[in-house]
Amino acid sequence: MKTYRIAAIPGDGIGPEVIGAGLTVLQALEAREGSFRLDVRSFDWGSDYYRRTGAMMPPDGLDQIRDVDAIFFGAVGDPAIPDDVTLWGLRLAICQGFDQYANVRPTRVLSGLQSPLRDCGPGALDWVIVRENSEGEYAGQGGRSHRGHPEEVATEVAIFTRVGIERIMRYAFALAASRPRKRLTVVTKSNAQRYGLVLWDEVAAAVARDFPAVTWDKMLVDAMTVRMVLSPASLDTVVATNLHADILSDLAAALAGSIGIAPTANINPERRFPSMFEPIHGSAFAIVGKGIANPVGTFWTAVQMLDHLGEDAAAARLMTAIETVTASGILTPDLGGTATTASVTEAVCRAISGRND
Ligand code: NAI
Ligand code: MG
Repeated sequence: MKTYRIAAIPGDGIGPEVIGAGLTVLQALEAREGSFRLDVRSFDWGSDYYRRTGAMMPPDGLDQIRDVDAIFFGAVGDPAIPDDVTLWGLRLAICQGFDQYANVRPTRVLSGLQSPLRDCGPGALDWVIVRENSEGEYAGQGGRSHRGHPEEVATEVAIFTRVGIERIMRYAFALAASRPRKRLTVVTKSNAQRYGLVLWDEVAAAVARDFPAVTWDKMLVDAMTVRMVLSPASLDTVVATNLHADILSDLAAALAGSIGIAPTANINPERRFPSMFEPIHGSAFAIVGKGIANPVGTFWTAVQMLDHLGEDAAAARLMTAIETVTASGILTPDLGGTATTASVTEAVCRAISGRND
């Protein structure tokens, strides 16, 4: 039997609640399929670890998880610790350390859910946003001088490299080519950002020539927000810079019903390093411990993880189980329901095992 080594990093806030739920449905799938095993090891890295040790993870943290087949990640963020410390100390340290340069964010209106947009049923909104995940505006280049003085200055330098742009464009065009509509929208802002994003556009056009089956177009990021709201069916696969896609994918999640359902995969396509799977949302302090965190984003990212591992049948079964449950109206409060994390999890496990009790 195939065994996959999984590093679970629940992290902060509702992270442990949704990762716990995710591991429960993965166990149900393991039992149901009978063809693979998940060897899960949990790591207690995050804000409590920081309070104990002064770092979000140990200095050899990346080495401890370098050989796993996938990383299953909850969220980071703590009201008492600056967000840049928690984000750079753990999540971005893993994304950049393992060169997970393709961040893949599917969005769809799941069966039984409602988009805040009028007349936007299943089928009208079915997107995958590909986010450049290694450079751009989050390259980590910059600095501060003259701290505390009136003349204090801070720089935040966006880095765009030909190699970095080309590899994300190739990934996005190939993904678009694999989807039925074969349509890609390249998001840019090359009217105002006339160096990095002009290079971005040039590389997109060059890569496009290798994918003649893909119909592609270019949108300025500001106009893109309008198109997502007014004309969702005109979009399919989307590629954007680190910052632009970060913002657009939160909008996409809201248009699909809730940030609580949206998944994301941080992929190292060459598989030189493990890839990381997580819900899009953060640690959601306001609902911690209430038992109402929506686990669907975590379940959906488990589908992405199974796909990545090559367990296509298990991935498809889990996605069907998720939609069976959303269609039946078992929904957490963020989706207008009264269900709990536990009751949604139980319902998905029942749908996986085929029991109707
Ligand atoms: P957030 O995603 O934690 O919460 C935004 C809103 O959505 C809140 O109203 C929250 O209650 C709700 N929400 C989020 N996930 C939900 C779920 N599964 N079920 C039901 N409702 C849900 O974003 P926010 O408030 O901007 O950030 C909180 C902390 O999380 C910050 O420290 C931030 O830095 C961190 N963060 C971490 C991320 C990560 O680890 N990948 C991503 C985004 C934020
Ligand atoms: Mg975000």
